[in-house]
Amino acid sequence: MNCIQHKTKLAVAMALSLAVFSAQAAEVEVLHWWTSGGEAKSVGELKKLMQAKGDSWKDFAVSGGGGENAMTVLKARVVAGDAPTAAQIKGPSIQEWANEGVLANLSAVAKAGHWDAQLPPVVSSAMKYQGNYVAVPVNVHRVNWMWVNPAVFKKAGATVPKTWAEFPAAADKLQKAGFIPVAHGGQPWQDFTIFESVVLGVGGADFYKKSMVQLDQGALQSATMLKAFNTFRMVRKYVDKDFSGRDWNLATQMVIQGKAGMQFMGDWAKGEFAAAGKKPGADYLCVDAPGTKGDFTYNIDSFVMFKQKSAEATKGQDDLASAIMSPEFQEIFNLNKGSIPARLDVKMDKFDDCAKKSHTDFIASSKAGTLVPSIAHQMAVPAATTGAIQDVVTQFFNSEMTSAQAVVKLAAAARTK
Ligand code: GAL
Repeated sequence: MNCIQHKTKLAVAMALSLAVFSAQAAEVEVLHWWTSGGEAKSVGELKKLMQAKGDSWKDFAVSGGGGENAMTVLKARVVAGDAPTAAQIKGPSIQEWANEGVLANLSAVAKAGHWDAQLPPVVSSAMKYQGNYVAVPVNVHRVNWMWVNPAVFKKAGATVPKTWAEFPAAADKLQKAGFIPVAHGGQPWQDFTIFESVVLGVGGADFYKKSMVQLDQGALQSATMLKAFNTFRMVRKYVDKDFSGRDWNLATQMVIQGKAGMQFMGDWAKGEFAAAGKKPGADYLCVDAPGTKGDFTYNIDSFVMFKQKSAEATKGQDDLASAIMSPEFQEIFNLNKGSIPARLDVKMDKFDDCAKKSHTDFIASSKAGTLVPSIAHQMAVPAATTGAIQDVVTQFFNSEMTSAQAVVKLAAAARTK
């Protein structure tokens, strides 16, 4: 072969391999709301995995904890006929979006990856619409945690409260010693996050299910719910004056820096402690929210894919779905995020004691019937009902509304469809 022939052959080979490469490479645009330190680190792992598959990642991050802003932006994009490739959507909203006919069916990828065998039923059932997978789970978060700075408690001579009845004595001691007892961000979803832990701690798992999941009118207006609102009001006394509008991760920083004693937040807060190099059991404690030992409010993050026209885009979605479900991703993502893997077969060896406790409690509560969906994190009831109930909870927290008025409003809000 002469030199020209050789060069031509090389050029053809290169062109061919480029063609193959570009047929494989797909751009995936992914909407999510993971913008805090720990969250961004976690989602960065997914980006890396996709890039390793030759796909290009277009980040569509909409800041705002809890995802309310992200959902507003998403709706506008879909209405404009410009849906992203994938979006972080969870709970009953998955069904609502699927019902609109805009979601891609992931059953082929799910079948090839044996998702049914790998996921606990509480997870897999939430991912399906009419028997087909339309969403892929990244994790299981536990919401009913209390994050504690033990040094602050020690300085104040306070004991970590195990029940809501014990709570005021501990909080008073923290306050007297010059600390902010409860680090809180006054945003509706954060108020709601405390409220659901109060309802669970005051009423127990059966009462939580009856009131927050089945929306039983009697339970919503019961003496137990009155007590829950009274307790919620009591907690309100222990937040600082600047709480309004504060982001949840800034509240976590207050605990990390020893300005505040505790925070009620799901275990994405652990992602912030981890990103700050803090060690559980030493620098901070993860304890059950008062009165909720053995109970587990779950919050499962997941992604849906919007139907695509081109084969290339569909390939990008399949890559994303299988990357998310891979054991490697489930491990590295959840090590950073604070949650536990959604897959049952991922070993917990590399995880810290908080995650191990979460894992044990998840399995035990599932057997005991005390595994309940988080209403504040959109796992329990349709989005419109969640929003109406959240409004009442926030209004109560930020006004002089009485508990008796609140239960009536709560029962009315629960009828919102
Ligand atoms: C939740 C979400 C978590 C966490 C949190 C704060 O709704 O499930 O993954 O990111 O919001 O942004």
